[in-house]
Amino acid sequence: MKAYRLEDPAQTIGADDLARRGILSWSVPDEENERAGMIDRIKREHGYVDEDFGELASETPNLDVICAKFDKEHFHTEDEVRAVMEGAGIFDVRDEGDQWIRIEVSKGDMIVIPANTFHRFYLTDAKHIRCMRLFANHDGWAPLYR
Ligand code: LAC
Ligand code: NI
Repeated sequence: MKAYRLEDPAQTIGADDLARRGILSWSVPDEENERAGMIDRIKREHGYVDEDFGELASETPNLDVICAKFDKEHFHTEDEVRAVMEGAGIFDVRDEGDQWIRIEVSKGDMIVIPANTFHRFYLTDAKHIRCMRLFANHDGWAPLYR
């Protein structure tokens, strides 16, 4: 994972600094049992009750339409929780001064975009990501656009 200020990429932002903003991150182990144990612990500690998997790839039908939803600035009333199982992606998250923090994630990175925080998401040029998504309730959630 790599985080930095979008207007000045030389200004990197560490995991501690992100965590102070509620943007939590973990490195998830490759080994299946270890990974499952860690994700279970995070679910318990943070009250995430549901999970599913989502994949975007160049062959995904309507990829452009799907990406056009994610790359518009939005927030959710629940945490957005992603563990990257394969591929890579880019999250931009607004800081308290409305400036963008860019966070590049790849396989093994797990991240929480806190509830009610404006963000947007892009694929990288490789156009592939497979994520586990965790949810704080069973009703699903919808993006609220800026
Ligand atoms: C979402 C991400 C991609 O809302 O921001 O699913
Ligand atoms: Ni979102």
